[in-house]
Amino acid sequence: MAGKVDWDANQYLRFEDERTRPPLDLIQRVRLADPQRCIDLGCGPGNSTELVATRFPNAVVEGLDSSPDMLEKARKRLPQLSFTLADLESWSADGRYDLIFANAALQWIPDHPALFARLARSLAPGGALAVQMPNNLSEPSHVSMDEAAAEGPWAGRLANARASKAVIGSFSDYRRWLMAAGCEVDIWQTTYVHALAGHDAIVEWFKSTGLKPYIDPLPAGEREAFLALYREKIAAAYPIEPDGKVLLRFPRLFILAVRR
Ligand SMILES: C[S@@+](CC[C@H](N)C(=O)[O-])C[C@H]1O[C@@H](n2cnc3c(N)ncnc32)[C@H](O)[C@@H]1O
Repeated sequence: MAGKVDWDANQYLRFEDERTRPPLDLIQRVRLADPQRCIDLGCGPGNSTELVATRFPNAVVEGLDSSPDMLEKARKRLPQLSFTLADLESWSADGRYDLIFANAALQWIPDHPALFARLARSLAPGGALAVQMPNNLSEPSHVSMDEAAAEGPWAGRLANARASKAVIGSFSDYRRWLMAAGCEVDIWQTTYVHALAGHDAIVEWFKSTGLKPYIDPLPAGEREAFLALYREKIAAAYPIEPDGKVLLRFPRLFILAVRR
């Protein structure tokens, strides 16, 4: 895995409405009668944590993230909840949760067979693991990152950038891993179609997430050159609509596992 990326909450929140729609769709599918203990893994600035707390107002809800900048925003947003700085790669639950929620976070964590088994073991009987991960590595938005990485003077330094994102398993993989861990499993995929202001908006969208392993290792001048090359590729791949917008297709994988 390449070096860890650092996170910028303000850049991430520029598209808050669009980014909050998948966790909203996910939380609506969680049917728990009276959960007592919930945790939001990779809680970011607290937008997903807020959805969990609103849906289950009687539960004790915690958030966990490895980014101090994200946690500062989350604590300001939800001062009544507790947030913990921790790395999910080594995190293990100190008890059993009724709900483990992880929206747009687990794609950054390696070794999904072990990770999903570990998370399932952290559920109380009847508890739910609710996960959403982008499943967009074959989309032009991401293929263009790898192409731009391979084409510049930075090629050697960015050779491992792709490896910082976990390989997303197949539907069958997640179902098998979670059934083996004693869960009933429901999996679905939704392709969101975001009408963004133009090609620059696509670049801005990914600057706070998928592009970070590519631009963070580069010095300022090269970073700009890399982004210009990436933008050229984005402009070629995403046609402009009659109203001037571009349509960013964004497939996302949803997994809901309930422990027997
Ligand atoms: C794309 S954001 C998702 C934020 C929020 N859950 C949401 O729904 O918008 C991914 C979050 O995962 C966190 N993250 C990435 N790797 C992590 C790790 N190893 N341990 C804990 N958090 C991690 C990042 O700091 C970031 O806040």
